[in-house]
Amino acid sequence: MKPANLIVADCSQLLTCQGQIPKRKNALQKVGLIEKGWIASHQGRVVYVGDEKGFKKEVQPEVDCLVIDGKGLTGLPGFVDPHTHLPFAGSREQEFLLRLKGYTYQQLAQKGMGIQTTVKATRKATGEQLHSLCLSRLDRMLLYGTTTTEAKSGYGLNMQDELKQLKALQHLNEIHPVDIISTFMGAHEIPAEYKGQKQEYIDFLIDKIIPEVRKENLAEFFDVFCEKGVFSLDDTRKLVKAAMNAGFKIKVHADEFSPLGGTELAVEAGAISADHLINITDRGIQKLSSSQTAAVLLPAVSFFLMLEKRAPARKLIEEGAIVALATDFNPGSSMTESMLFVLQLAVYTLKMGIEEAINACTANAAFALARHESVGSLEKGKKMDLILFDAPNYPSIVYHLGINPIKHVIKDGKLVVKDGKILREG
Ligand code: NIG
Ligand code: FE
Repeated sequence: MKPANLIVADCSQLLTCQGQIPKRKNALQKVGLIEKGWIASHQGRVVYVGDEKGFKKEVQPEVDCLVIDGKGLTGLPGFVDPHTHLPFAGSREQEFLLRLKGYTYQQLAQKGMGIQTTVKATRKATGEQLHSLCLSRLDRMLLYGTTTTEAKSGYGLNMQDELKQLKALQHLNEIHPVDIISTFMGAHEIPAEYKGQKQEYIDFLIDKIIPEVRKENLAEFFDVFCEKGVFSLDDTRKLVKAAMNAGFKIKVHADEFSPLGGTELAVEAGAISADHLINITDRGIQKLSSSQTAAVLLPAVSFFLMLEKRAPARKLIEEGAIVALATDFNPGSSMTESMLFVLQLAVYTLKMGIEEAINACTANAAFALARHESVGSLEKGKKMDLILFDAPNYPSIVYHLGINPIKHVIKDGKLVVKDGKILREG
């Protein structure tokens, strides 16, 4: 018998998302559905998941065991969000209004707005202000089911302010239930003070900031915005090489607005993921599909920027790519912390099946962060990160729109959201 200190009994449906991870092609349709499912954990790790009969045979509740009634609820692994620009200050409603008048995201960027607007605001903010902004955002993430998130710097674009962003993330990871995996993205834009001197900025990143971030162990990943007018394919190659030599894992913002070939470069470099892919070419699809690099799709960006073009999710799945989903939470192209919204958008706008979208927000999203050994599916030994929806079955979470059906969230075996409210410790 295994001891347990947390049990969720008799869920209407429990989805484990178990199976070989990453999931490709038809495997993406398997969500490990258990009707009337039971799950138990001990010291934050799953010790049992299955039916009632097996539970009674295998699990011994401890005296102080918390038992949650799962009747009428649907359980899913906590969402993993593998792409966010979490630590920023300010907001961009004014630019949103300009976009509603017909300006495009790129036109605003060319006028010195866009990312530069947020760089100004983020440089002005103190570390404490940034910290408190992120805290509210992490709370919202948790309320919408995210239990692990990636978070990128990239609104500092100098030593002091990039480190300020990364240090805020490091501290937030210690105090907030959501696990944060940090990415250094000094190569998000060329800062105004380096205008016309892009190569000098690249050298500064390579010679000064990359070594410092590494030395202070402030980020696990390195990311670069490979895009027309930002970092070219050659720039990206140079930056990625330096970051890999310094020991970073790689992500690339690839083929978002123009088909530069960032995807192919990411695959050649052995990147963990290539993200965006709205303008990926057929060659890029082929290359990505036969690789171990995950395709992180961000449907909230096409929606938020009101683009007709979307990432070719169906084609990527059919060709065998490792499709994952993320919010891309940022103030310019995707102002949402909600993975639930992204899951719904994937079904309604990318034509992904509900099961495919669920796996892409959990198991494959964990793979896109190199965390699939510990999160993204509910199985023995993995973290007890669980969302309980007030929903009789899993299609209902995509069918019923514009509400938050999440009743409880469990993180590391602790109840952190109860009846739709965050529980604070102490
Ligand atoms: O992923 N594409 C580059 N970066 C973000 C947008 C950041 C911003 O507009 O502030 C993105 O879409
Ligand atoms: Fe992004």
